[in-house]
Amino acid sequence: MTRTMAIRLWNGRWLLAAGVVAVLIAFAFAGLSAYVLVPALLLLLAAAILPAAGMRQSEENAAAIEAIGLQRLSGEYLAAAVADPLIIFDQAATIVHANAAAFAAFGGIAPGLSLPLKFRAPEMQTLLDSVLSGTIASDVVDYTEKLPVERAYRVSASSVGHGTDLYVLVFKDQSEARRIDRMRADFIANASHELRTPLASIAGFIETLRGPARNDPAAREQFLQIMQNQTGRMARLIDDLLSLSRLEMKPYLKPGTEVDLRQTVDSVIDSLGPLARETSVAIERDFAAGPLNVPGDRDELFQVFENLLENACKYGQSGGRVVVSIAHSDGAEPGIDVTIRDFGPGIPEEHIPRITERFYRIDVETSRTQKGTGLGLSIVKHILTRHNARLTIKSEVGKGAAFSVHLPTA
Ligand SMILES: Nc1ncnc2c1ncn2[C@@H]1O[C@H](COP(=O)(O)OP(=O)(O)OP(=O)(O)O)[C@@H](O)[C@H]1O
Ligand SMILES: [Mg+2]
Repeated sequence: MTRTMAIRLWNGRWLLAAGVVAVLIAFAFAGLSAYVLVPALLLLLAAAILPAAGMRQSEENAAAIEAIGLQRLSGEYLAAAVADPLIIFDQAATIVHANAAAFAAFGGIAPGLSLPLKFRAPEMQTLLDSVLSGTIASDVVDYTEKLPVERAYRVSASSVGHGTDLYVLVFKDQSEARRIDRMRADFIANASHELRTPLASIAGFIETLRGPARNDPAAREQFLQIMQNQTGRMARLIDDLLSLSRLEMKPYLKPGTEVDLRQTVDSVIDSLGPLARETSVAIERDFAAGPLNVPGDRDELFQVFENLLENACKYGQSGGRVVVSIAHSDGAEPGIDVTIRDFGPGIPEEHIPRITERFYRIDVETSRTQKGTGLGLSIVKHILTRHNARLTIKSEVGKGAAFSVHLPTA
C-alpha cells in the first residue's frame, strides 16, 4: 500500500513540484493567507497520491483482455501443448479427451471409453475413486504399464476448475529415472562385491597365518605373496573407480592440444613390452606415413590404447600376435583410425554391445586370473566420448577381435 503511494508520488514528482512552486509564488506575491497555504499544499499531495482515473481504467482493461484470452484457449489446445500423456474424463470415469501423447503411449483409447476398463491396475482404480468421490481435489500414484515395453509412470489426477464435473489425469514418465537408479544400485553392488572378494581372501590367509601355518616359513611366504596380489587388485580397482568418476565429473575436453598418435601408440607398445613377453605375444606395427596428429589429451589417449593393447595381449594370447595399425580414415568423416587386432578366441556377437559396460566381462574367472576389473573398456568409452571419437568392435569367434578407434582430426 505505502509502496504504491510512494510510486505514485514519484511518478507525479514534476507536477507536484510545479504545483508547490506555484502555491509558494501565490503565497509570496499575491498575499495569500497562511490558512490557505497549508490546505493548498495538502490538496496537492493528496491529488498526487490518489490513483489516476486513466490508470485504473487501463488496469481494468488489461484484466478484461486477459480473461477474454483465457476463454479463447480451449481445453483441447491446452492438452495438446502438454508433452506428457494427458486424459480428461468426466464424473462417470469416461474419457472426454486425450492428447496426442496419450494416444501414442496407450494405443486404443478414445473418447467414450471407460477409464477403469482401460487401466485395470488396482492403484489406478484407487486413484480414480479418490478424486471422483470428491473427498480430495487431487491425488498421485505410481503406475507401471507392462506392454508393449515396460514403462513406469507417476500419475496425478485432479479435478478441473469448480463445478465443471471434469477431471484430468497426467502421466509423468519415470522410466529413465528408474533405470538410472537401478544402474547406480548395480554399480555399488558390483563395486562392493569386487572389493569384498580379495578382502575375504586376505582375511582367510591372515587367519591361517596366525593358526595352522604359524610355524611354516614356506607356506607363510606363499600366502604373503597371494595377499600382496590381492591388495594390488584392490588398489587397481580403486584407481579405476576414481578414474571413472573423474572422467564423469569433466564430461567435456579442454580443446587446444595436439596429440602425436605415432609417438603415443609407440610408447604404449613399449610400456606393454613386459606383458607381451610374458604372454608370448608378438606386437606388430603398421603405421601410415607422415604426421598422425589429432586434437586431444595425450594421457587419456595413452590410457585408451594401453587398455586395448593389454586386453589384446591378455585375452588374445592364444593367437600369438597382435597388429597395431594407424591409418587415415577412408570414410566420409576426416580422421585417423587406430586399430588393435588380435588372433585369439574372439568375442561372441551377443557380448559385443555390452562389453563396454562397467564390470561386464565375458568370463569373470578368466578376467580375474588376468587381474582384470572389468572397468577398462568403460573408461575407454568415456574418454572416447570426450574426444568425440568412436569405438568399433569387430570379431569372429575363433579368429580374433579388432578394436578400432576413430579419432576426428577436425
Ligand atoms: N581382445 C579381446 N578378446 C576377447 N575378449 C576381450 C578382448 N578385450 C576385452 N575382452 C573381454 O571384455 C571384458 C571387458 O574388458 P575390460 O578391459 O573392460 O575389463 P578387464 O580387462 O577385465 O579389466 P581391466 O581392463 O580393468 O583390467 C574382458 O573381461 C574380456 O572378457
Ligand atoms: Mg582391460
